[in-house]
Amino acid sequence: MIVAIDGPSGTGKSTVAKSVAARLGFTFFDTGAMYRSFAYWILKNGVPSTHPEEVSKWISSFQFSITKNQEAERAYLVNGIDVTQEIRSPEISSISSQIATYPEVRKAMVKMQRRFGRASNAVFEGRDMGTVVFPDADVKIFLTANPAIRAERRYKELVAKFPDLSEELRLDQVMQEMADRDQNDSNRSISPLRQAPDALLIDTSDLTIDQVVERILAQVPKNSTPPMKWSYRLIHSLAHFFFRAFFRLKVYGKEHLRPGAGLLIANHTSNYDPPVLSSSCPDEVHFLAKESLFQVPLLGSLIRILNAHPVSRSSSDLHVLKEMIQMLSQGKKLIVFPEGKRSPDGTLHPFERGFSFLSMKAKCPIFPAYIQGTYEAWPIHRKIPRLFGKIVCVFGSPIEWDDFEDLPKKEAEEALQKRCFEAISALKEWIDEGAKGSSP
Ligand code: DC
Repeated sequence: MIVAIDGPSGTGKSTVAKSVAARLGFTFFDTGAMYRSFAYWILKNGVPSTHPEEVSKWISSFQFSITKNQEAERAYLVNGIDVTQEIRSPEISSISSQIATYPEVRKAMVKMQRRFGRASNAVFEGRDMGTVVFPDADVKIFLTANPAIRAERRYKELVAKFPDLSEELRLDQVMQEMADRDQNDSNRSISPLRQAPDALLIDTSDLTIDQVVERILAQVPKNSTPPMKWSYRLIHSLAHFFFRAFFRLKVYGKEHLRPGAGLLIANHTSNYDPPVLSSSCPDEVHFLAKESLFQVPLLGSLIRILNAHPVSRSSSDLHVLKEMIQMLSQGKKLIVFPEGKRSPDGTLHPFERGFSFLSMKAKCPIFPAYIQGTYEAWPIHRKIPRLFGKIVCVFGSPIEWDDFEDLPKKEAEEALQKRCFEAISALKEWIDEGAKGSSP
């Protein structure tokens, strides 16, 4: 789950976001610290911050990480150097605001932020969290405050952090610098500081930190996984029970799955694969099935409950793809067997390209899975399934579409397809070698 908190500085954003994260047990992520850290890198290397092309050249050498220091406090590292203190200086404030207007810099930062966001439940604070980085965030907050109050808060913060500066620092100067930064942040052409239409606006001028935190916590849904339809849950539980009782079904790697849209891809050797895969997945999943199957008594009703969507023989590939993209845009998970049909001999066959096109088009992750044992239980050449055996289903690390977005379209699809084939092969190998540790 992502909680996105945006707003200008001096609104109490960082303190509030840190506290919200602590109360929820989520990771806290200050994206301003990232822009500041890059500003530090520019300054350290003597790059003129007014030259976007020069600045952009330094993105590839910028290595940013977050750790804990000896006092167990959060520390920001740039290429191994602890910059936690330095990045709060007024000089870095102004450089970071300037470089944050450069499209190449923003593109790189957004990519890194999304990567961090996928890793865990998190509270992100910044300027464009709810509008650009996480437009689907579960909770969006926009903080404001009266400029005089913001300047006073910032002044006190600076004096506390840099006592040496307190002699020369003046409140009116801090106020002016803040106005300049607001001007930069709000008027840049790319991702300006703006409230997302669906964000809750909170004016923090007359509120305590605790009051703001409580208001935000009241917005956080108790459970991020949407509940299953009761009929789906019933069949899901029965199917899971059936495979556990008769086939000693074992499921590994569920921690790799996350709520929301995605393609669930797996090897395909048997008619048992769709029910094994969907009953192993904690979320509701959807899949396409031949229209004729819906006419079969009982089976038709059953697959309808299990979110099967009919495809007629006459539907064009384009029509089917459009329908799938629409389902993904509604946040659904779709099962796709990239081999296109059941393997006649139980081995993994080459993948078709449609699914990687889908992932790139719908901008959704791919969750690879490997199913073992269904071929022995019900291979393609057997009319009647066996009712005993051993089945294993393992989910692997998600494969992200945006790892490939910089490649030309066709190359991106091919590279993504190759990565998926390798991922499923690696899952097979992991099972064959005894399923030790966590799945790859
Ligand atoms: O929140 P902060 O003051 O630490 O941020 C420093 C600068 O980084 C700020 O002037 C604007 C920029 N920034 C941004 O453009 N987008 C973000 N998501 C976070 C910060």
